[in-house]
Amino acid sequence: MLFGRVKPLDAILATAEKKSLHRSLGAFQLTMLGIGAIIGTGIFVLTAEAAQKAGPGMLWSFVIAGFVCAVAALCYSELASMVPVSGSAYTYTYAVMGELLAWMVGWALVLEYAVAASAVCVGWSGYFVGLLSDYLHIDIPVSLANGPFAGGIVNLPALVIGLLVTWLLMIGTTESARVNAILVVVKVLALSLFVFATIGVMNADNFTPMTPNGWGTIGVGGAAASIFFAYVGFDAVSTAAEETKNPQRNVPIGLIGSLAICTIFYLLVASGAIGAIGAQPVTSATGAILSPGTTELAARCKEIVASGAVEPLSCSKEALAHVLKTIGWQKLGGVIGLAAGLALPSVILMMLYGQTRIFFVMARDGLLPERLADIHPKWKTPHIVTAITGVFVAAAAAFLPVGKLADISNSGTLFAFFMVSIAVLLLRRSDPDRVRPFRTPFVWVVAPLAIVGTAILYFLLPLEAMLVLPVWGGVGLIIYFLYSRNHSHVGKGHVEVHEDDADAPHNSVPPLPEL
Ligand code: ALA
Repeated sequence: MLFGRVKPLDAILATAEKKSLHRSLGAFQLTMLGIGAIIGTGIFVLTAEAAQKAGPGMLWSFVIAGFVCAVAALCYSELASMVPVSGSAYTYTYAVMGELLAWMVGWALVLEYAVAASAVCVGWSGYFVGLLSDYLHIDIPVSLANGPFAGGIVNLPALVIGLLVTWLLMIGTTESARVNAILVVVKVLALSLFVFATIGVMNADNFTPMTPNGWGTIGVGGAAASIFFAYVGFDAVSTAAEETKNPQRNVPIGLIGSLAICTIFYLLVASGAIGAIGAQPVTSATGAILSPGTTELAARCKEIVASGAVEPLSCSKEALAHVLKTIGWQKLGGVIGLAAGLALPSVILMMLYGQTRIFFVMARDGLLPERLADIHPKWKTPHIVTAITGVFVAAAAAFLPVGKLADISNSGTLFAFFMVSIAVLLLRRSDPDRVRPFRTPFVWVVAPLAIVGTAILYFLLPLEAMLVLPVWGGVGLIIYFLYSRNHSHVGKGHVEVHEDDADAPHNSVPPLPEL
């Protein structure tokens, strides 16, 4: 029976009990963890891509994407507080919908975390190149600072930062609480400064036309599907449930709190950018709509800049710094660039870390070779899986544009959220009496909204990104039926507690960055 292999919730909870991860995180730290994982390339870089699709209508895109995340977060919160263990959507699905779908969700989460890490590497590269130029007057040649889609050959800075963060993770570097908190403050301060600097020069005319490309795939809707990336990461809070004090209370606060704070900042920042320098999409010389992340757009941007005109928002690779420099705040633009340059690597670290953790839990369940999750004797990290993931992440970052990577990551994330929202409803039906420390309010409205919202956003993604999910899923299915199904611990009847399994890794996964 395909869907028959369900991992009993009680067994999952017993595993969590036995594992002795230190429960040290409170609501405040979780919220900081969430903000640390959420604010990154999305707002600092993809604002430009959103402008290219939606123009000033990107404000609606932020609202739509934020709304879908909020309803999904409410569903996440119910499961995360009920099942406060590692593995996030993968673990919940295992308990509710069985192994095959859990495998598919875990496999989709790889897309979410690993590809998101690549996207943030590329986003960081744009700011790094600007920083080198601003502060040290070193100009990296265009061909070495951009992948082939953006008019270059290889994005060297993105490749290097990807490998560097992988190496740091391999040798056991985790972000300390203090470092995370400092970086969150740096990001929030940078965005606040941006808002204050732009508020004085807001021009209401810049908001019309509001939706130059309409509401569909190439307009506000498509931008919402892409800018959804700016919210990705809040589920990192739920993956920290095992290290959280009173997770029943603190996880929902962390999830929803971090999401709410980020949404407010995003709307303020996007308004500031539009009001200050305008956000109308760049069109071809004949007025045709150009897609972000294409060589055509890159060439047209080059033309516009060569003509002596101000570089439009859509063309910038360091969107926020660019806005400030354009309105005459050169120094402050440099400071924003510095903040992004400092803070984005921590988002890469979080994403890669989340990735290795999902792999680890899947290997612990026998669905992936357990050797993959071997812990290095000295570094105490799952070095093999980290190295393999890191090499792929860095390679993708070197050659693909940030918007395409973000869209691909979104396709995996939207699938995971879709499944979680279904799981909440199924569990309400199948196990109505289980204690639910956090109950999704109006679940029969909120969960269907999340299900429909994630599905709509998925179908608003560009075709290539949409297609990656079924192709990736197909590869996943082949691996499942060739390997995972036969090695699954649940399949072998070992469902009690992993640490007692003779062939399970004996080290627990290293705790989340000690916050
Ligand atoms: N939300 C994260 C970012 O925007 C992934 O970089």
